[in-house]
Amino acid sequence: MVADIPELKPRDFELIRDLAYQKFGLDLRQGKERLVSSRLGKHIRGGGFSSFDEYFRHVSSDSTGEALTAMIDSLTTNHTSFLREQQHFQFLTETVLPVYLDRPKLDIWCAASSTGEEPYSILLSLCNELGQRRTPDVCIRASDISTRVLAVARKGIYSAERVAELPPAWLSRFFLRGEGRSQGFYRVKPDLAAKIDFRRVNLMDSFPDSVAYQAIFCRNVMIYFDQKTQENLVNRLGACLEPGGYLFVGHAESLTAIRHDLQYVKPAVYQKPVSGSSIKRRAI
Ligand SMILES: C[S@@+](CC[C@H](N)C(=O)[O-])C[C@H]1O[C@@H](n2cnc3c(N)ncnc32)[C@H](O)[C@@H]1O
Repeated sequence: MVADIPELKPRDFELIRDLAYQKFGLDLRQGKERLVSSRLGKHIRGGGFSSFDEYFRHVSSDSTGEALTAMIDSLTTNHTSFLREQQHFQFLTETVLPVYLDRPKLDIWCAASSTGEEPYSILLSLCNELGQRRTPDVCIRASDISTRVLAVARKGIYSAERVAELPPAWLSRFFLRGEGRSQGFYRVKPDLAAKIDFRRVNLMDSFPDSVAYQAIFCRNVMIYFDQKTQENLVNRLGACLEPGGYLFVGHAESLTAIRHDLQYVKPAVYQKPVSGSSIKRRAI
């Protein structure tokens, strides 16, 4: 029998909402009480807590940060897929890559990479386009706040259903096909997977390195943030782009309502101006 989840009192919701906002920028509005209660219910049951208040005190006092990470994992969705919002990969290979063909290296950051399908899609699209060329060397930083999804991404093993979205020729070229007990699974070839550096990064914290990226993918995560947090994030991401570099956001994440210095290129694609020209946008 499954134990009942204790009642989520208004005060409990407020505390969880404030914590999620302060630590992760998560915007849990009024009306999300049921979602919070059901998503955090498994931690209440699993940890044997008798109330949300007790669970909250546990999360707040856990110095390892693991309980907090598990909480955020449950409150956000990790939904993703290979070649999701396909137009971006087409733009990357047809418009972005040609600009950098004479460079030795291409640095790309995938800033909310979930279980890895997105950074692998970036890598495989570029490798496919580059063919036998050895340069530019494609180096991808992939990050997420969730250690659970990062562990899946690092393995680079996906079921046949998940890789079905990729062109069949890519499966033989870029993946090892599982045999025996691994039948029905595909693993990204290790020499390719090594081009991706997976790290835990909370987008609310200061960024760990000073690479000037040629492209940053930050897709389908800003929907969780309020406008102020989005604005702050977009400006900090813009600072990590080299002039002329591109920012890709999710197609449901228009930047029209926030102030930033990037130029609109096409839906969900923005570019850092090459010269000092600065464009400020705000909702009308
Ligand atoms: C819906 S998935 C999007 C995955 C991928 N970008 C895509 O478009 O398919 C959102 C991801 O954002 C991550 N996330 C949520 N809040 C975050 C934060 N504050 N910092 C970094 N990652 C965060 C979640 O763990 C989740 O994996």
